[in-house]
Amino acid sequence: MPNLQRHVFVCINERSADNPKGCCMARGGAQVRDRLKTELKARGLAKAIRANNSGCLDQCEHGVTVLVYPEQVWYGHVTPDDIPEIVEKHLLNGEVVERLLIPDQPQLAGHPRFPKIEPEKKS
Ligand code: FES
Repeated sequence: MPNLQRHVFVCINERSADNPKGCCMARGGAQVRDRLKTELKARGLAKAIRANNSGCLDQCEHGVTVLVYPEQVWYGHVTPDDIPEIVEKHLLNGEVVERLLIPDQPQLAGHPRFPKIEPEKKS
């Protein structure tokens, strides 16, 4: 079994163009997921952190929506260019990226820090 320390869910839900809710796929969900996978691999984190495709996370108005587990941190309006900051600050160093947080996350009161993750050493 892989020893995964975090899962990062990226919404790639797709709706028809005339749906008033819109969707994360149309806002670049697949590009966000691809950039995340590329960054995790490049930094030696692919065995510790899994990038997961997700269906609708019920935060459509904030899409592209990204959810990090196990700490349950929700990010919104994420673009591919935001991924290096999420990886560096949150996934590697355990600090939330405040500017991308979706509002109303009481579990983050007191600005908790989460465990750091050591990248896999290249041999
Ligand atoms: S379509 Fe992405 S959160 Fe609903």
